[in-house]
Amino acid sequence: MNLQVSHHLLLCVPQKTSSLCCDPAESKRSWEQLKLILKRLKLEEPKRPEGIVLRSKVNCLRVCKSGPILLIWPEGIWYQYVFQDRIEAIVKSHIIEGKQKKEWVLKRTPLKGLGYKFDQPTPHNFIAPTSI
Ligand code: FES
Repeated sequence: MNLQVSHHLLLCVPQKTSSLCCDPAESKRSWEQLKLILKRLKLEEPKRPEGIVLRSKVNCLRVCKSGPILLIWPEGIWYQYVFQDRIEAIVKSHIIEGKQKKEWVLKRTPLKGLGYKFDQPTPHNFIAPTSI
């Protein structure tokens, strides 16, 4: 089955309590909130016209400061200090409205070849070339 994917969100949830990135408990709360918001906004529906939104919990995104870090593909936007109370605003703005929350962006690493420019939002009808 081919599934269209609009975005893939990766959130660091460090396992070590000695993490320099953030308090693992804070990151776990962000992860739970991310699951809740994606479900509530029906962004994980396989029949979503724009494609589904994937999420992955990762141990570390190799930034290890200013966390929790949330990386959103395909734009390659790295959000910092993504605490529980920022999740909904980021998802609504970035995923639904196609506008980055610039004030919370740590860095941008767009994939080459997709034609992105840093300050342009992702078109709502954009379908990433990834299928699963
Ligand atoms: S633990 Fe968050 S980026 Fe390394």
